[in-house]
Amino acid sequence: MIIHNLGLTNSVLNQFISEIRDVSIQKDPLRFRKNIERIGEILSYELSKELNYTPKNIKTPLGSKEVATFDDELVLCSILRAGLPLHNGLLNYFDRAENAFISAYRHHHDNEDSFEVIVKYLASPSIENKTFIMADPMLATGKTLENTMMALKDHGKPKQIHIVSIIGSTEGIAYASEVFPKNTHLWIAAVDDALTSRGYIVPGLGDAGDLSYGIKL
Ligand code: URA
Repeated sequence: MIIHNLGLTNSVLNQFISEIRDVSIQKDPLRFRKNIERIGEILSYELSKELNYTPKNIKTPLGSKEVATFDDELVLCSILRAGLPLHNGLLNYFDRAENAFISAYRHHHDNEDSFEVIVKYLASPSIENKTFIMADPMLATGKTLENTMMALKDHGKPKQIHIVSIIGSTEGIAYASEVFPKNTHLWIAAVDDALTSRGYIVPGLGDAGDLSYGIKL
């Protein structure tokens, strides 16, 4: 996997990351979602540099100009519900992309720490020969991404896979590197070292779905 850890360079990206981690700022869910969307926009811009461009002649009211634009057919895929604000950020820049949604949750057996990822709902176009962008805000174990890819195996084989995450664990990134093709790109804003026994990233930020949309039963 080709890893782009964009938080290693000082930029406004780290301001947004600091705010989504900060317990006092987290009390404002609108700001939390907006910051995630803005992070999605920055990661999209960086990812766009890896797309395939050809020059096109563009007519303006006063003449014409050759401009290189990308030709890739994009499919943006997000996991409900935590992925939605990040998905919106990606869609703000890749506005003509097709979209895929999948609902997946962790099922803990008899309250034990081990869990399996259950995929419940899937709505996706064909991904055959397309550029497939998976938005997973918290790359904790890598199992959700793996299960999403498995659930989509009847929808075709993408030409290129990009994973877009905000915070990842070292362990989850290592796992994703094993199960995804070597030429998969990972666009990530921060990497944390630890995971709790229930698969939460430490220090991370907590539960991204709850912080965006409220706690669930
Ligand atoms: N999902 C979250 O929302 N937070 C984590 O730390 C891990 C997975």
